[in-house]
Amino acid sequence: MNFKKIIDLVIEASKFIADENLINTIKNKCEIDFVTEADIKINDFLKSEFKKIDNTIGFFTEEECGQLTDPCWIIDPIDGTTNLIYGYKMCSISVGLFFNGEIQFSVVYNPFSKELFSSEKGKGAFLWNKRLHVSSRNINKSLIEIGIVSKTKKYADISFDIAKNIYKDCLDIRRVCSAALDLCYIADSRLDGYFEIQIEPWDIAAGSLILTEAGGKITCFDGDEIQFSQSTSVIASNNIIHGYLQKSINTFML
Ligand code: IPD
Repeated sequence: MNFKKIIDLVIEASKFIADENLINTIKNKCEIDFVTEADIKINDFLKSEFKKIDNTIGFFTEEECGQLTDPCWIIDPIDGTTNLIYGYKMCSISVGLFFNGEIQFSVVYNPFSKELFSSEKGKGAFLWNKRLHVSSRNINKSLIEIGIVSKTKKYADISFDIAKNIYKDCLDIRRVCSAALDLCYIADSRLDGYFEIQIEPWDIAAGSLILTEAGGKITCFDGDEIQFSQSTSVIASNNIIHGYLQKSINTFML
């Protein structure tokens, strides 16, 4: 597979984010969860171009859901749609290739900062050509991203209780609101940890490989490996603070 071609297509797909009309054509998936015409256009563009490259690979995408097959492309056309709609320039196109039970290749592109994160299994993680490494910070020096489930407010209390407890021990809290970027930012030592009580596979599939190839760790709250077939809890970290995060979070989950 020519991964350079996949990267070029992801960058090309970002042209739809530059089109204000598409961004302003918004549908509510539910009261607090949105999809724009740009999400749909990127989804359709990537699918049709990827099929031309190899039509035996399936698709598991935010806009169509479906189910995980092996092999398949796991795609979030825009991770951080609410940010995009509000002009808070923090979102990404996230594409992972799931093959033989693992993510083998991934690309996460922020069209506003023009940062391109990518990774091939076993070959390291990169921001363009710069090799990425997680931080070596302990919890007292750590910046922690809190993920608050966007589709429902039913986890609000527990999410903020966990965050408040961690906040007392860490340097500070951040809220980027694109899980794919959160994972890349830990890979690039800008953040040290991230958790979310329920996240969808397309939000974290691509970023998970970039993170682990940079030396980081990603698991469910119970420490199990992430399964990309369904919604999951997630803890991601620079490895060093993973045990702390897991212990701290699970105090509230009992
Ligand atoms: C959202 C982002 C956000 C996370 C939400 C996701 P979307 O994805 O990844 O960081 O906290 O749970 O739903 O809906 O913008 O693609």
